[in-house]
Amino acid sequence: MRKKILVTGGAGFIGSHLCERLLNEGNEVICLDNYFTGSKKNIVHLMDNPYFEPIRHDVSQPFYIEVDEIYNLACPASPVHYQHDAIQTIKTSVMGAINMLGLAKRLNIKALQASTSEVYGDPFIHPQPESYWGNVNPIGIRSCYDEGKRCAEALFMDYHRQNKVKIKIIRIFNTYGPNMNPGDGRVVSNFIVQALKNEDITIFGDGKQTRSFQYVDDLIEGMTKMMATDDSFIGPVNIGNPNEFTMLELAAQIIDLTGSKSKIVYRPLPSDDPKQRQPDIHLAKEKLNWEPQIKLRGGLVKTIAYFEKII
Ligand SMILES: NC(=O)c1ccc[n+]([C@@H]2O[C@H](COP(=O)([O-])OP(=O)(O)OC[C@H]3O[C@@H](n4cnc5c(N)ncnc54)[C@H](O)[C@@H]3O)[C@@H](O)[C@H]2O)c1
Repeated sequence: MRKKILVTGGAGFIGSHLCERLLNEGNEVICLDNYFTGSKKNIVHLMDNPYFEPIRHDVSQPFYIEVDEIYNLACPASPVHYQHDAIQTIKTSVMGAINMLGLAKRLNIKALQASTSEVYGDPFIHPQPESYWGNVNPIGIRSCYDEGKRCAEALFMDYHRQNKVKIKIIRIFNTYGPNMNPGDGRVVSNFIVQALKNEDITIFGDGKQTRSFQYVDDLIEGMTKMMATDDSFIGPVNIGNPNEFTMLELAAQIIDLTGSKSKIVYRPLPSDDPKQRQPDIHLAKEKLNWEPQIKLRGGLVKTIAYFEKII
């Protein structure tokens, strides 16, 4: 049966892939976005679909509509963007969650929150299971994002406990793929753009810090599987790829795949940058029968092809 689905942040990197997937499954999609970091270019190929409806709106302001499900993704996700207007970032997370939960309560529908591995901060436990409470600096330059997302999780849980709202929380780990904003300073897009332009590849710190990268298609699969679970499973559940790479290894693979002449240069590590991050995905395997399928090299090839087209 065709569902009417609201995707906030639908014109962003992840949101645009989600909109496309939901349309391909035969649903009607309402894409709410204020285009702060997203772009119409990410969704222009969906515009001809009569079941796709973009709406310009700020999620931190009340919004009323009749829908069957909500995916709440609206929030800048890269440090350059979320620190640009830190107050607006917290408002987007917190007021956006309140507005979407209010809607879900009124309509008695499911709302899924796109939370983040940043709720674990600079973790003392490695890899991070969902039961870990995290190590977050509440007053640092990243806290507008990290604490905003933690507060959104708290709100989702409280609306569930107090008002019986049907909620789903996923904690997304580093994700990459086509439609990433080339100027948002995230490591995969940064390295690829620098490599394609034969510019120096900037590594912050000594390059030995690790990250786990998941290709966007794997995330969308996990996200839609989570939404499809019955009401008894609310999460939070980690959705990420446990394969860990150092920044140096990532840079080397990208130089190799692009045939770039770029050299690696080192810059000081920004404050509160976590040294390592890796999802424990036992819960996702058990509850969603999900695990990532796409290897780093395969995902990088598709992402490089996208950036070659746009730069
Ligand atoms: N990409 C990742 O690796 C990653 C990791 C963890 C969590 N997430 C979460 O996934 C979601 C999507 O991230 P993304 O990587 O696609 O980032 P993105 O910046 O590409 O997308 C965010 C979208 O939200 C929109 N937006 C921002 N503020 C808004 C507001 N006030 N009202 C309406 N729309 C607004 C932006 O214009 C953009 O289209 C975010 O909530 C992010 O926190 C992403």
